[in-house]
Amino acid sequence: MPVKSSEITPEKVFKRRRTLIAAGLGVLAVPLLDRGYGLLQQKPDEVNEPFAPVSAQLGRQSQPLTPTPYETVTGYNNYYEFGYSKDDPAKAAKTLMTSPWSVEIGGEGANKPGFYDIEEIKGEHAIENHVYRFRCVEAWSMVIPWNGIKLSDIINAAQPNSKAKFVRFTTLNDAQQMPNADWAGGPYVEGLTIEEAMNPLTLLATGIYDQPLEQQNGAPIRLVVPWKYGFKYAKSIVKIELVEQMPQNTWWLQNKREYGFYANVNPRFDHPRWTQATERVIGELGRKPTLLYNGYADEVGHMYPDLDNRLYFY
Ligand code: MTE
Repeated sequence: MPVKSSEITPEKVFKRRRTLIAAGLGVLAVPLLDRGYGLLQQKPDEVNEPFAPVSAQLGRQSQPLTPTPYETVTGYNNYYEFGYSKDDPAKAAKTLMTSPWSVEIGGEGANKPGFYDIEEIKGEHAIENHVYRFRCVEAWSMVIPWNGIKLSDIINAAQPNSKAKFVRFTTLNDAQQMPNADWAGGPYVEGLTIEEAMNPLTLLATGIYDQPLEQQNGAPIRLVVPWKYGFKYAKSIVKIELVEQMPQNTWWLQNKREYGFYANVNPRFDHPRWTQATERVIGELGRKPTLLYNGYADEVGHMYPDLDNRLYFY
């Protein structure tokens, strides 16, 4: 559903957001400088109000979602292959060639492996609109109107067999086009369980605000998993594999103590260096309580029976 102009944040608020953005820190970058579990005191944001009691934080938010303005969604990014600052990707990623583009589907769990042209993916499957909250592990959040297809459409087309227990995503890693291609020592990789991948909320996004994705947002195709922290949203995907073993993911490889495989949003489990109980909503003043599974508990809670199992939440 297209976003109405009345839903866009007023200019005054947006200008203030610019100031906040200018002050932003690339906290995820810190572990790179300190792969041996840092003695780091840095916090992503100062917490300037008391935390709400846990019971209050777990409720579903009743307020309607107000999409974050296009300029902010496309100007405040994490895409380290193009630099560590939030404004680097918008400046440096313009040279990324996103057409032609094909995505390889394979792995031992796919009976029908193959290559899909991006236009084929868009053409064969309905492009849906989904306005989702986006919660970064750095404790800030946005609301993004995505266009895309359900990941389950692509998985079904690959005819999964009994070995398809996990899905592994590999993204483009091209030093010719990406000034910081080697930051993680290889391509950015991510993974989901097959159940998570087949959940109707999980998308392969090809656009936002009814426009094709810009390079800094992961053009031409990226993962969207709204109940998980933002680092799960692998950008510029070139390969999707249905596999039997749990895949390793880039941030876990960078720092096993701080980033895991599941990475479900949960206000009860803090990141080792900062709280996850609250978040800074980009463009708003103060902080808001973070919601269990980023507000999608009804849709995804059944996949995680043990709410106290820390494994699921980092
Ligand atoms: N994908 C690749 N290839 N490289 C990255 O550095 N950063 C991740 C994720 N996907 C990243 C990536 C992180 S940490 C976040 S928070 C989101 O992309 C940010 O997405 P956005 O810039 O569109 O908001």
